[in-house]
Amino acid sequence: MSPLKGKHIILGICGGIAAYKSVSLLRLLVKAGAEVQVVITPAGKEFITPVTLSSLSQKPVVSEFFTANTGEWHSHVDLGLWADCMVIAPATASTLGKMAHGIADNMLVTTYLSAKSQVFIAPAMDLDMMAHPSTQANIESLRSYGNIIIEPESGELASGLVGKGRMEEPEKIVDVLEEYFSKSLDLIGKRVLITAGPTREKIDPVRFIGNYSSGKMGYSLAEKFASRGAQVTLVSGPVALKIDNPSVTLVKVESAREMLEACTHVFPDMDIAVMCAAVADYAPKDVAERKIKREHDDVPVIHLVKNPDIAASLGALKKDGQTLVGFALETDHEVENACEKLLRKNLDMIVLNSMRDKGACFGTDTNKVSIIASDGSRMDFGLKPKCEVADDIIDFIIGLRKKFMID
Ligand code: CTP
Repeated sequence: MSPLKGKHIILGICGGIAAYKSVSLLRLLVKAGAEVQVVITPAGKEFITPVTLSSLSQKPVVSEFFTANTGEWHSHVDLGLWADCMVIAPATASTLGKMAHGIADNMLVTTYLSAKSQVFIAPAMDLDMMAHPSTQANIESLRSYGNIIIEPESGELASGLVGKGRMEEPEKIVDVLEEYFSKSLDLIGKRVLITAGPTREKIDPVRFIGNYSSGKMGYSLAEKFASRGAQVTLVSGPVALKIDNPSVTLVKVESAREMLEACTHVFPDMDIAVMCAAVADYAPKDVAERKIKREHDDVPVIHLVKNPDIAASLGALKKDGQTLVGFALETDHEVENACEKLLRKNLDMIVLNSMRDKGACFGTDTNKVSIIASDGSRMDFGLKPKCEVADDIIDFIIGLRKKFMID
């Protein structure tokens, strides 16, 4: 049985030649047992008729905010709540731009902005439009908001030119949706602890020792674990990110000691713990009660003490059935250093980032990782958006737990 059976899917169609493929996509979705509501842009109707789409979906096609003769309002908010996912195929350059910038001047974009569930976007356009920096920047923004981009294929285009811009084939789009739904709830009942962001170690009331960690990797992991059914406790240092997910409990901390306390408190109940935070290794021995002033002739000296190692502390507490995952950010001897940390901290697996890889560092939206497990298995991944890296890490954890016969 298809994992799409009974799923509520919004199919968004924009005005491009590839709209003819949306008919096959709609047929395949309906055949798989999904309930599909088509939302089409005014330009989309120039390419494909609502009559065809409504006959196949067995629902009136939505395009305008109101039905002209009755004044009936089509609620994009209700649609957004109804849907288990939204797939926009084809997504034209213009609609990508509107979605990326919140220009809600048609029903498709307002529905997109109201959608609470996962959105899949399958762009289709001519190769030069696709390659244009503004299109690429819009795609990257949309990806960074958590949307899944189904990349176009290379091939012959409607213009007669050959290049990247052909909408992915309907069968492949259905594969992506099926994969998403088949693993979307594979972590129901699991409890997961994640640490994220930097820690701040106070020097005086206005200064601290910190680092450049943005928290993006940890927050992406929290979102992904939650979307796959887990109950997540996210212990986070100070970051500029927000998370609004009923399955994620956010515990805000500042220092490494506060992070350790929050983690040891919840760890006994956890199935999985992922140590993603960039914890300061040292903290000032004494915190000045008042702001350290400049008038002294001598340069002040800050004496440091070692901070607790949170991953190693949890490693010492770890019981059978618990999976402990660490990260290692290295500049040299990467694999050797990561393996040493894996052993020393009693981790089950470690996710290695190299500072030498472009796009795989603090503050970026992308990451390039290798995963090494305590049984010696290893997997190297290419440069990807952090939300996709999060899925790779979760898949690896699930695989490892199966191997260790935990689940
Ligand atoms: N970690 C931790 N507590 C610390 C330091 C690190 O929990 N005080 C965790 C990190 O969250 C990460 C792993 O340990 O999962 C490795 O962190 P990293 O900074 O690479 O290693 P360190 O042990 O700090 O070693 P070094 O700084 O010498 O590379």
